Amino acid sequence: MATVLTWMVIATAFSFSVAAPEEALISRIAFGSCANQTSPQPIWDAIVNFKPQVFIWLGDNIYGDIRRPFKLFGNERTIGPWKNVPRFVPSSVDEMQEKYKIAKKNHGYSRLREIAKVIGTWDDHDYGLNDAGKEFKGKDTNQKLMLDFLDEPHDSPRRKQAGVYASYTFGPEGRQIKVILLDTRYHRDPLRSDGTILGTAQWKWLEKELNGQPSAITIIGSSIQVVSNLSACTGPLFYMESWGRFPSDRKRLFNMISDSKRDGVVFISGDVHFGEITRFDCGTTYPLYDITSSGLTQAVEKVIPSFLHFGLRFLAWVTPTTMRVINNNCKYKSCTYGQPNFGVIQVDWEAKPVSLRFEVRGVSGEVVNSVTTSLLDLQTKTKKTQLPQQHCFLEVDLPWLTRHRLAILFSFFVTVLIVVQVGGLYVVISLMVKCLRKCKLD
Ligand SMILES: *[C@@H]1O[C@H](CO)[C@@H](O)[C@H](O)[C@H]1NC(C)=O
Ligand SMILES: *[C@@H]1O[C@H](CO)[C@@H](O)[C@H](O)[C@H]1NC(C)=O
Repeated sequence: MATVLTWMVIATAFSFSVAAPEEALISRIAFGSCANQTSPQPIWDAIVNFKPQVFIWLGDNIYGDIRRPFKLFGNERTIGPWKNVPRFVPSSVDEMQEKYKIAKKNHGYSRLREIAKVIGTWDDHDYGLNDAGKEFKGKDTNQKLMLDFLDEPHDSPRRKQAGVYASYTFGPEGRQIKVILLDTRYHRDPLRSDGTILGTAQWKWLEKELNGQPSAITIIGSSIQVVSNLSACTGPLFYMESWGRFPSDRKRLFNMISDSKRDGVVFISGDVHFGEITRFDCGTTYPLYDITSSGLTQAVEKVIPSFLHFGLRFLAWVTPTTMRVINNNCKYKSCTYGQPNFGVIQVDWEAKPVSLRFEVRGVSGEVVNSVTTSLLDLQTKTKKTQLPQQHCFLEVDLPWLTRHRLAILFSFFVTVLIVVQVGGLYVVISLMVKCLRKCKLD
């Protein structure tokens, strides 16, 4: 009896301290990634105006590493086959700490922290080094700094484990939202290895999380894109990091979700410096959406002059994609958004059935990309139903000519450039020869 009583007391105390503050109904979530701490961050105003109850960092929360400029010649050559120094180098601990301090002091971000619960994971630049994985030496030190930035309690288990993965459950029973944040860095095998992204312990943990208590909605936060494998269509010109680059682990993730029969799973991601919404219809029995928002400051269109923005959007439109949701809610025809942006998930719990809205929003809070769906459409089906399956087709299975459209266009452009130059040179030389002959004759 005494033990039962003790257990009841402990259980009550536990549920009070852990569950009580998180029991408020959550219907507004915002998220973002890729924020350069030394650049102005006006987007926080729009995020604060959205009044999110929860904000989720998806990585590159600061740019912790040091980037050397592109240099083809000179002492420190960072590109070309003759490069002799790496383009990215890690910062010292003091420098990392200073960068986090700047990020945390940002006025807009401070206001957000007052109104919303802020949680998050990391990506490469705040992990410590561009494109780094498990081999990176500074990972334990940087884990501590990152958790300090997020005000992780000192006794949190997250401070004792290898990697920053974590899960949260918000909301009252029946209307719960579970947020699972993955660590795609600490245990990640080298690129092109088709090894593991999550590592053994994190996989085991994730399986338990997915098979545990059901929740109406489960948001899985991954720094890198889960659904889209754009690299399949941009290679060999350039490659991006994504789950697609680790095909076995990607398959394992979808199988694990499918086997868990968990309803309402949605991915959110960052990393790529543009925003888009993608979906995969053959991962489980309902569509798996991946809402990508990147970045809060770092966006592709910001690094080129504005008269070239149209060209960039054209290239984004030309590059084939099988997963991107193309609809009339997009600001641009490509349905990608290359200006600073943040992501939004809104839930209308009163609607019947409960409806969900995914958005990418620009720096003034304007919606530039959106999808509305319902919880009913994100439920495990017992018998095979007829999903349209237009988002089932992997990018790598596209016909060769379609898949390599970008590279073909690029080669064509380079060829034309070379032909024009050689032609020009030929004309100049022949004119000179003609002129010389004429001079001799005279
Ligand atoms: C961050 O912004 C500063 C100031 O605009 C700039 O000098 C620096 O190169 C930027 N860093 C990155 C990683 O873009
Ligand atoms: C994604 O693209 C890369 C590069 O082309 C390829 O190696 C990989 O197998 C693709 N992954 C999937 C799941 O299609």
